[in-house]
Amino acid sequence: MKITVLKEELPGEARVALMPDSVKKLLSAGATVSVESGAGLAAARSDADYVEAGAAISTDRNAMLQETDVLVTVNRPTTDVFAALRPGAVVLGFLRPLDEPQALEPAMTRGLTTFAMELIPRITRAQSMDALSSMATVAGYKAVVLGAASIPRMFPLLMTAAGTVPPARVLVLGAGVAGLQAIATARRLGAVVEAYDVRAAAGEQVRSLGATFLEVDLGGLKTEDAGGYALELSEEALKRGRDLIAEHAKTADVVITTAQVPGRRAPLLLTEEAVHGMRRGAIIIDLAGATGGNCALSKADEVVEQAGVTILAPTNLPATVPVHASQLYSRNVTAFLSLLIKDGQLNIDLNDDVVGPSCVTNAGQVVNTRVAASLKSSS
Ligand code: NAI
Repeated sequence: MKITVLKEELPGEARVALMPDSVKKLLSAGATVSVESGAGLAAARSDADYVEAGAAISTDRNAMLQETDVLVTVNRPTTDVFAALRPGAVVLGFLRPLDEPQALEPAMTRGLTTFAMELIPRITRAQSMDALSSMATVAGYKAVVLGAASIPRMFPLLMTAAGTVPPARVLVLGAGVAGLQAIATARRLGAVVEAYDVRAAAGEQVRSLGATFLEVDLGGLKTEDAGGYALELSEEALKRGRDLIAEHAKTADVVITTAQVPGRRAPLLLTEEAVHGMRRGAIIIDLAGATGGNCALSKADEVVEQAGVTILAPTNLPATVPVHASQLYSRNVTAFLSLLIKDGQLNIDLNDDVVGPSCVTNAGQVVNTRVAASLKSSS
């Protein structure tokens, strides 16, 4: 069974799908691994590191793809890459099957079997494969570091001979995986942190990290589904949240927004008016930029300045921490691959409760019902 790793092509991408440590694991499971020359460089891993781990290095991308059984990627491969694979080959990566299902058509035409890291169910058995959580952890951490480096103040409370420096104030909107990591990082740097989420369960987690949980009376409204994910709220419920947020944003130095609702546009939590009410020199880091943003003024991957407030909406913060982001991702991918390898051979069991739900196409046929429905509604 031949596993291939290419150099990622997305502009700004510095992660690599497999790190040398994982290559060793896959070899011991009976697979062989080919890595495109230079694939790990931006994540501080040289070709020599891969050779030492037992991988073959190649500069001939087409020849590599023609022999590939499983292509592992970070981002969705280009149409050319899909077309160069053999029918029946497997592709595993962040394929964005729900956001951009049409972009997988070349994989369908080519008869490929595709697995999306985003679709791996968040059940206990698949925790080691949860790449969404890994990347959200990195993004939450990096957002705080970016905020701390950008504001014209320091984070911790300092008592000096020249007087007392008050701690920075951080407001975190959405206390899921990224939000909780942002809270923990901001607390470690000494900031006073407030956080808001619609899921009641988030309150206890926020408080256990030493932050204040902002509560809104939503009149007993159901805010989460059976899987623990937030539901899309009514306009009235959203407005109550927005009013509370606008009030607390007035005194914040850094606002980090992470609120998302799976399969929907991100909820609008910070209005233009709320931004105008903020302090000069404050910064908003909107981590929901890829799904429309939580701040009305956010522009994905652009810097917006308004009334002395800076608004960033970086869509790929994990790529700015490429060593650790790749390390975590590579382990997630390897844990998933272990389900597809039996006695050194590819063995796909779509009845498996992790493998089946993660599969988008099987030999070109769409097998995921949500993806099929979204393709049908857009055709
Ligand atoms: P996410 O990225 O989809 O959303 C981030 C946060 O935004 C969530 O906490 C959500 O409640 C919040 N949010 C949505 N709409 C909002 C609104 N209008 N106002 C304020 N906040 C809003 O979620 P993420 O971080 O991927 O995970 C969320 C849930 O999944 C959590 O319950 C988490 O504990 C659970 N989870 C479970 C795992 C497991 O059991 N293996 C692994 C990872 C997450």
